[in-house]
This record gives sequence, structure tokens and C-alpha cells, in this order.
Amino acid sequence: MSAKHTITLIPGDGIGPEVTAAVVRILESAGLSAEWESHLAGILALERYGTTLPDELLDSIKRNKVALKGPLMTPVGKGFTSVNVGLRKTLDLFANLRPVWNIPSVVSRYENVDLVIVRENTEDLYAGLEHEVVPGVVESLKIITRHASTRIAKFAFDYARKHGRKRVTAVHKANIMKMSDGLFLTCVREVGAEYPDIINDDRIVDAACMHLVMNPSQFDVLVLTNLYGDIVSDLCAGLVGGLGVVPAANLGTEMGVFEAVHGSAPDIAGKGIANPTALLLSAVLMLRHIDEGAIADRVVKAHADVLAEGKVRTRDLGGRASTIEFTDAICRRLTV
Ligand code: NAI
Repeated sequence: MSAKHTITLIPGDGIGPEVTAAVVRILESAGLSAEWESHLAGILALERYGTTLPDELLDSIKRNKVALKGPLMTPVGKGFTSVNVGLRKTLDLFANLRPVWNIPSVVSRYENVDLVIVRENTEDLYAGLEHEVVPGVVESLKIITRHASTRIAKFAFDYARKHGRKRVTAVHKANIMKMSDGLFLTCVREVGAEYPDIINDDRIVDAACMHLVMNPSQFDVLVLTNLYGDIVSDLCAGLVGGLGVVPAANLGTEMGVFEAVHGSAPDIAGKGIANPTALLLSAVLMLRHIDEGAIADRVVKAHADVLAEGKVRTRDLGGRASTIEFTDAICRRLTV
């Protein structure tokens, strides 16, 4: 019998293959009927095919409309441009959705954090337009357009309305970057005016960071340009237990690529100790996206039960378990 879903799988590099293997096992233990089309990207694809984003991979995602992705490293200060950014731009995955909440029984600095970051995914300083003007002077272009700002604002307000959220806060630096961040803020306000049922306010990014670490539960949905969204997401991960537990989804009008907020974690790669939770919760977002809500609920429960029992935890959460031991514990819960 053929599988119900065909999903593109990008194992990624660093801890990517470890956490993607763990998540695929858990989803299959939970009863997901899926055929996985596995493709290399990034440095491994470059070594094998001479390109970081092979056409076969892009065609697979375009065909299947859904992908589960491990992290891909980007060289610092030299080498190829970010494959993660390239994938989002090429497939026009314009919205990066990053829900941040307290997982019960994961000890963190705060309780009652329940916010959603909506990050614009296609422009800003991530346009990658940099050049040397004269020796010793470089210019990096920050691109902000009405089209992309309006589109991400609509996404944020629609998401808020659909999920019963009350407030959308635009985060910006329009006091300094009056034209670029000013345009973004104007677009969010214009869109917000069409959603009278949702409060629309804004914060300057530096003050927003301070307010987030002082009292994160005051926030609901945050909408940000690409760079601020990237930085604020990691800050928010730190509020609820770290990068090992925060999921994400890259969404376009037709396709979704689901990946954790974290990167390839070279410091722990190959040691078998990475926490698969962040990718697992990204996969839960994916399951809901492909209308497999019942399987998503089972995965969430099994994962929460293992954490609540407290015996099997990865090191980032204060335990001693390996990735495989933690995965085994969740799979056992799913199959009893
Ligand atoms: P990182 O997120 O890979 O690691 C930061 C810290 O968090 C490290 O101490 C790491 O051990 C820890 N950590 C991350 N994920 C974890 C997990 N699942 N379990 C336990 N601990 C975890 O960030 P870093 O070091 O800045 O970036 C490493 C590489 O990843 C870079 O090449 C970067 O460009 C790339 N990257 C890729 C992303 C993607 O594929 N979407 C996102 C962010 C970074």
C-alpha cells in the first residue's frame, strides 16, 4: 500500500542527521504513513553535486509542498551564502513562524510564556547585497519593500485572528532607520487598521528585548523584519529552555518547510547528545499543516509524558540521556 504522504526530508549537517533520524522514527512510531524523499543540501551537496541547493531538492519540495529540514551550516565571513536563506527566497517561503511557549516540566527562567514570532523571511539585510565601496569601506544593503512588509503583516494578523490571539506588536528601529523600518511600520499599521478586533502596537527593538527579558508574558504575536526576527527568536528561545526546544515553520502560499530555530550546533555534532525536541515540535507544526492533528496530539503527549517523568532527558535539559535514548523513550510511549 502506498504511503499517505510524501515528504521531502533534508537531514542537514552538524547535528541535523541525528535529530532528523530521531524525529522520523518518532513520527513513524506515532503512525504517520509517509514516504520520505531524502535530499542533501548545503556543504554536503556542494561536495557531491557542486551546488548547495540541487534542483532535485527544489523540485521535490515543489512537488510535495512540504519538507522537514535539519539545520545547515553557513561559513562565517567567507564561502558560500546561506543555504537556509537561499531556500526561503527561492521557494518564496515568506513567513517564518516561531511559536515560543513553556513546555511543561522544562525548567526555564519564566512561566507563562506564550508568544509567537512572525519573522519576514525574504529581504532586509538578508538580501545578501554587500560590496566594498573602496578598500576598508563596505556597504550592506537593507531592502524593505511595501509588498513584503504588507504580506508579512497580513500573515501575522490572520494568524492572530485564526488562533484567538489578541495583540500584534511590530518590532522595529524606525526612530533611526526612518525610511526602511519606517516603511515596515507603516505597512503593519495599515494592515492592522483592517483588523479592528486585534490590538496593534509597536516597540523599538532594543526596548522590546529589554521588555522580553523582564516580562515576556506581556507579549502575544510579534511581527519583525528578517534580522530582528532572527535575533529576537534566539533571545526568546533562551526564555523557555534554550534552542533545543523551540520549533519553527517557513511558510509560503503553497509550500511549508519545517525546521528548528537552532543551527547545526558544531560543538555537539556527532556526540549523540543533541535534543531532538525542537525539530520534533517543528514536525508537530508540520503534522497539523498536513491535517494529521491526531498524530500531532499523540506525539505532543508522548513527548510531554517522557519529560514529565523526568528520567530520560538530554543534557541541555539537565539530564544524561543520549539523543537515541530520549527518542527510544518517546517511541516506547507511543507504542504501548
Ligand atoms: P546553534 O543553534 O547551532 O548553536 C547554539 C548553541 O545551542 C550551541 O551551544 C549548541 O550546542 C546549542 N544547541 C543548538 N541546538 C541544540 C539542540 N538541538 N540540542 C542541544 N543543544 C543545542 O548556533 P550557532 O553555533 O550560532 O550556529 C552553528 C551553525 O548553524 C552556523 O553555521 C549557522 O550559520 C548555522 N545555522 C543554521 C540554521 C538553520 O539551518 N536554520 C539556523 C541557525 C544557525
